[in-house]
Amino acid sequence: MFDAVQINPHSRLMTQARPTLRLLTCGSVDDGKSTLIGRLLYEQSLILDDQLAALERDSRKHGTDGANIDFALLVDGLEAEREQGITIDVAYRYVSTAKRSFIIADTPGHEQYTRNMATGASGADLAVLLVDARKGLLTQTCRHAAIVSLTGIRQVVLAVNKIDLTGFDEAGFAKIAADFRRFADALDFKTIAPIPISARHGDNISSKSANTPWYRGPALLDYLETIDVVEDGATRPLRFAVQWVNRPHLDFRGFSGTVASGTLRPGDEIAVAGSGRLSRVARIVTKDGDLRGATAGDAVTLTLADELDIARGDILCDPKNRPEVSDQFAAHLIWMSDGKLLPGRSYLMKAGTRTVPVSVTELKYRVDVNTLGELAAKTLSLNEVGFCNLATTTPIAFDPYKENHTTGAFILIDRVTNATAAAGLIAFGLRRATNIHLQGLAVAKQDRARIKHHQPAVLWFTGLSGSGKSTIANLVESGLYAHGVHTIMLDGDNVRHGLNKDLGFSEADRVENIRRIGEVAKLMTQAGLIVLCSFISPFRAERRMVRELLDGHEFIEIFVATPLEDCIARDPKGLYKKAMAGEIKNFTGIDQNYEPPEAPELIVGLDNQTAGQAAAQIVALLATRGLIDHIDDLAADWSI
Ligand code: ADX
Repeated sequence: MFDAVQINPHSRLMTQARPTLRLLTCGSVDDGKSTLIGRLLYEQSLILDDQLAALERDSRKHGTDGANIDFALLVDGLEAEREQGITIDVAYRYVSTAKRSFIIADTPGHEQYTRNMATGASGADLAVLLVDARKGLLTQTCRHAAIVSLTGIRQVVLAVNKIDLTGFDEAGFAKIAADFRRFADALDFKTIAPIPISARHGDNISSKSANTPWYRGPALLDYLETIDVVEDGATRPLRFAVQWVNRPHLDFRGFSGTVASGTLRPGDEIAVAGSGRLSRVARIVTKDGDLRGATAGDAVTLTLADELDIARGDILCDPKNRPEVSDQFAAHLIWMSDGKLLPGRSYLMKAGTRTVPVSVTELKYRVDVNTLGELAAKTLSLNEVGFCNLATTTPIAFDPYKENHTTGAFILIDRVTNATAAAGLIAFGLRRATNIHLQGLAVAKQDRARIKHHQPAVLWFTGLSGSGKSTIANLVESGLYAHGVHTIMLDGDNVRHGLNKDLGFSEADRVENIRRIGEVAKLMTQAGLIVLCSFISPFRAERRMVRELLDGHEFIEIFVATPLEDCIARDPKGLYKKAMAGEIKNFTGIDQNYEPPEAPELIVGLDNQTAGQAAAQIVALLATRGLIDHIDDLAADWSI
């Protein structure tokens, strides 16, 4: 059915007086979106004759409007597909009238598809928000208005549809318009245009209707054909994201990418946002010859007058109007993954051509998209919207999303599944981070290693509760201590009595538990110690995070692989018994997951060896790796 909706090439003269208007249609399921789009296509003669004949046939058979054409049938085929979950994406329709071209992003009206709405909304200039004249504002109307505003759309048409079914009631229309203005007060809209329409009968669609003499504004199409498109990328400050450094031979070094906003001409001064280095544009090269200028949307290769250190992901900008550069910022996140947001977990942030590790340092609140209220939250689930602080591992250049939709938007990627976890819209940079610079240490790690006669390292024991992690770690530590090795032990039960006493055992709390411990372990390696960490640490992502936090080969992951049955049989603290009786919730191995390491440095286990044997194996590994001197009398100590 969707294939049938095409532009009739013979329909009208396609002169283009105004720039293309990108618009988003949204509203609840029954508000008449499909009928409106079908009606627009029909009235503009954008349906081919044979399609029209088929539509008339279908309308007689399946339509809901007697002998009349049911315009919804034009577009509802797609809608049905979506309901079966085949495509839950955004459909773009391209429509041209004599005065203007339109790109219409049509998104499903169901609640659970917030993420599709957000996708359709990004890049749109205007939103047509449909409401049913009989029902007035619904929860979902408000939700959509909130998302529309969040994604930076500043112009809204409130299409009050099915006005015929209220007997063209002026007062009802005025009430809906007033209700919406009141609700939208908190949203950042520049224009709100309420228009009473009947998509089914054509009132106020292409021309003013005689049925609404009290309505003084324009018909919908007139309005859409004449409204000014506010955001024109070319008038914004220059942002050029380098996609790759093009160096075919020694005499040519070009930077290929797309002009995200602004314009470029040879001779223009540019700055590299991150380093602040300055140069001038020498040439704008394309395969068809040099250009005299490039503007927003153009993909080109630049050469510069000076040799600067520029890499993929750098942003070139106007020196007088630079983006912010920071490793901390506040942003709205639209959560798109079935897995929940876990603050503290390391995700990948893809912003333009750059990908860097990032974590949510604080979820400030969840947005109630129905009321715009701020709700306390510890996590975000699918389709929820939150406002949070994020920290990247290296500074990035960005603009607030309101100022630049390209350099202000990003996505979060799950590092394990590589799936998109969220869409993000940057609100502002957090300056507190920019004035803190790492202090150069007078005494370096290697200096300490020399006087201690061993290297620093983190021995990370992971495994189920009761697997023997702490027992083995204690043996290792006492053995090392007896031989003058400087160690420290961090253990789950102990750390949770002090530093982490505010944390429980939810997934989010476990992520934060390990994040803090990772940071502490890192500080302790700087003190030159061998740090023994004994934590269930059930998730791969956090163990990897600690590994990446440390230098080179400092992280030694030891999987204490004692099987669950044996742990249950050992049950040293009687916790399994309670967990299986339902008295303790979120217990690892019982009602919460444990992700075994994929490539640990060592696997030990109490099912096939004694704690002493396991400890001896670990000490031997440290010696083999050159971290400590060889110790040969341990076996006697541990009565192996
Ligand atoms: S972790 O998952 O966040 O790494 P951690 O190792 O710090 O856990 O703490 C685990 C210890 O807390 C266990 O050895 C056990 O003594 C105790 N504990 C209490 N409740 C739970 C629970 N629900 N799940 C696992 N361990 C628990």
